[in-house]
Amino acid sequence: MGSVAVMGKPHAVCVPFPAQGHVNPMLKVAKILHHKGFHITFVNSEFNHKRILKSRGPDSLNGLPSFRFETIPDGLPPTDVDATQDIASLCESTSRTCLAPFRKLLHKLNDPFSDVPPVTCIVSDGVMGFTVEAAEELGIPEVHFWTTSACGFLAYLHYGQLVEKGYSPLRDESYLINGYLDTAIDWIAGMKNIRLRDIPSFIRTTNPNDIMLNFVLYETVRTKRANAIIMNTFDELEHEALNAFSSLLPPVYFIGPLHLQVAQLPKDDLKHIESNLWKEETKCIQWLDSKEPNSVVYVNFGSITLMTADQLVEFAWGLANSKQTFLWVIRPDLVSGETAVLPPEFATETKERSFVASWCAQEQVLRHPSIAGFLTHSGWNSTLESISAGVPMVCWPFFAEQQTNCRYACSESEWGIGMEIDNNVKRYEVELLVRELMEGEKGKNMRKKALEWKTKAEESTTGPEGSSYMNLNKLINQVLLSPK
Ligand code: UDX
Repeated sequence: MGSVAVMGKPHAVCVPFPAQGHVNPMLKVAKILHHKGFHITFVNSEFNHKRILKSRGPDSLNGLPSFRFETIPDGLPPTDVDATQDIASLCESTSRTCLAPFRKLLHKLNDPFSDVPPVTCIVSDGVMGFTVEAAEELGIPEVHFWTTSACGFLAYLHYGQLVEKGYSPLRDESYLINGYLDTAIDWIAGMKNIRLRDIPSFIRTTNPNDIMLNFVLYETVRTKRANAIIMNTFDELEHEALNAFSSLLPPVYFIGPLHLQVAQLPKDDLKHIESNLWKEETKCIQWLDSKEPNSVVYVNFGSITLMTADQLVEFAWGLANSKQTFLWVIRPDLVSGETAVLPPEFATETKERSFVASWCAQEQVLRHPSIAGFLTHSGWNSTLESISAGVPMVCWPFFAEQQTNCRYACSESEWGIGMEIDNNVKRYEVELLVRELMEGEKGKNMRKKALEWKTKAEESTTGPEGSSYMNLNKLINQVLLSPK
């Protein structure tokens, strides 16, 4: 059995959804709670655990006695392929199969002869809602972490009404192209100037049994059983959504940007613990070091986006024709079903002013003084990392709530820091927008606005008055350390 000091600690079990954009922010929550005195059990899927060990080495998951990793299977057939798992299959399998191994894990942790303190709370991804069943059985508090933007989550919470009102499922495929997606959605409290196309993409289905549509419908109802919700955003950025949540959800705490909170931890004895599923290419940082301040466009479409070989070529020629210097991260599985191949003439044309990598330390890249703009898929982590670094964006949203993030980023009356590229991407549009981002008047205005958001993001995480700083302490005292 463990020592009295260790056994007396509160013990949080952190359960991310097993995808990169979810594991990263959950690891940050876990590090912060550990710093606040919690014993941490971090639960990875077996598949991701193996991938992190492979990409980052054994040290990356070698915790401390009070910060440990455990695994549960994700329910999908085992594979050694290091590629993004199909999200719909993963949602279906985790919700159907993970509760039993999770219960077993909790039982092991709570064994009186185990060397860890009894589990006192669960912090689970909002889309791993099965954990609430286990928390209720144990009578301990459960917090749901929705890793999306608040505006995106607010839209998800209205999927039920979108179905009831007949917006989704779509009657047939023609509704995707006949202007129907431009229908104004003006009845969601807390959202202004929103069209159907800005609602997270899973409503764009003609199938009433669509896995993702039904998954969202189910999890957004189940999440109301959690004791609290946390989100990686800050009050100043999304206060309208925060107000709207008060009548829809248990208490919601905005505690982001989490990476800024982690950067302020005084003693980072967990620095070596990382969660990247791909190996970072460190050379791109040296390459950025050789560039002038504010001179480079950073291009990265996140961990899940898939594009066609033709779209890749359009982006390539758009970037080449823009005549800008750029760092382009092309994930090995970015092109659907194929290896990404860039045209040989593109390499010749841009070799003096480009660096192509397969994965990078994105937070570090966005903070680098040479970066002036970000061509992004509008994933929430990427968007928030860009906002926190004061970097304006060109947005090419792929799926989920990236469409909503893009709308808010690009709308002048919201954040005013982005310009959208049409889904049917064409090289001239990439060229035009990237040039505008780097050299145009609009680019200049967006940069100014982005720097203002950067200051607000920093202020929100700085104690003792910062909103996220205070919300985090409230979350701990009012929920995580509070008996049910
Ligand atoms: C996406 C959406 O972002 C999320 O909002 C949605 O709900 C689910 O899917 P993803 O494609 O992973 O996730 O994008 P993003 O949220 O931006 O997360 C990617 C994470 O990986 C970021 O934290 C980013 O810093 C990191 N990353 C990405 C790297 O460290 N290096 C890279 O080269 C690319």
